[in-house]
Amino acid sequence: MLPTGLIACVLLHMAASVEVPKLNMLDGGQMPAIALGTYLGFDQNGVVRSKSKELRDAVLAAVDAGYRHIDTAAIYETESEIGEALKMKFNEGVVKRDDMFITTKLWNTAHKKEQVEPAIRSALNKTGLDYFDLYLMHWPIALNEDNSYANVDIMETWRALEDVQRLGLTKSIGLSNFNKEQLQRVLSEGSIKPVALQIEVHPQIIQSDLISFCKSEGIIVMGYSPFGSLVMRYGLQFPGPKMDDPLLVGLGQKYGKTPAQIVLRWAVDRGVVPIPKTIKPSRLTENISIFDFKLTPDEIEKINQYNSNTRYTIPSFWQEHPNYPFEKIDNPVKDPFKKD
Ligand SMILES: NC(=O)c1ccc[n+]([C@@H]2O[C@H](COP(=O)([O-])OP(=O)(O)OC[C@H]3O[C@@H](n4cnc5c(N)ncnc54)[C@H](OP(=O)(O)O)[C@@H]3O)[C@@H](O)[C@H]2O)c1
Repeated sequence: MLPTGLIACVLLHMAASVEVPKLNMLDGGQMPAIALGTYLGFDQNGVVRSKSKELRDAVLAAVDAGYRHIDTAAIYETESEIGEALKMKFNEGVVKRDDMFITTKLWNTAHKKEQVEPAIRSALNKTGLDYFDLYLMHWPIALNEDNSYANVDIMETWRALEDVQRLGLTKSIGLSNFNKEQLQRVLSEGSIKPVALQIEVHPQIIQSDLISFCKSEGIIVMGYSPFGSLVMRYGLQFPGPKMDDPLLVGLGQKYGKTPAQIVLRWAVDRGVVPIPKTIKPSRLTENISIFDFKLTPDEIEKINQYNSNTRYTIPSFWQEHPNYPFEKIDNPVKDPFKKD
């Protein structure tokens, strides 16, 4: 017989792991309805790297909390620590490979058809995995190694993604940061339909048109930067609702949730897979504890009213590229990826 303390401990452990629902993808696979974001940001030295294995530890805690979907990208430089954490969790027997859904992305400097297979193989090597669940073209922007614009058609890259799917290096393929016209082109000229489109979605950019279009095509929308103005970005506060916003606080009181959880649930209730990033264990648990309540259509509509079509990801340094997907701005910033 197990001692009472141990039983309590086991029950606590079970209760702490959230069961996340899954969405059906149009190629027959299933995607967990929330993903852990793993981009650690950018500073004057380039991409921020994980310190003292903080990202590996966050992924370990995330798996324990119930996350089954991890979002990464070649450019984030987090693939190796994610792989390390997964290996530990596989060895502990906590999860098996097919319990996990791993999304990663092809970077812009590897868009030529002969570059795509080596790029995904390199990412697989870093993670120690045999396959990814989802491989996305990160941007419709092809660049040369020196970050000058490359003349590679998006369909050349898309067909190479189709090839790596056929080779079994990824179960599914999709797109990120494509606008509607670019997505339509892939749908009409490609042999395989993208299963997912990853775009910025939060209360300041609700993306109703693109989301409806994706729904009509059976494409899942993954929403990045899901907290919008609720959190600081680049060390700054941006206009828009904050954690003390009366509507979000009021809904939080009604459902026993925080404003952060209300905003994540708003995404889920709109059929969007949110990708909240945190490396803090308490926030990992907070962000995934959103599957025991539902907002009403009226509440969703009230949050939709915060829309101002405001993006935080505006790579205006690429805005003269022929495939730049967003609206151009007046004072484009200097390319942080470009070496002088
Ligand atoms: N496809 C693309 O081009 C693209 C672009 C951007 C992002 N993404 C993906 O989307 C993910 C998320 O986007 P993001 O990092 O821009 O934005 P985000 O998830 O909306 O915000 C992250 C920030 O929120 C804080 N935070 C997390 N949970 C919180 C909570 N419950 N309460 C208060 N603060 C909280 C985090 O701090 P702590 O870490 O300190 O908790 C971090 O500063 C990325 O990591 C990446 O995987 C994709």
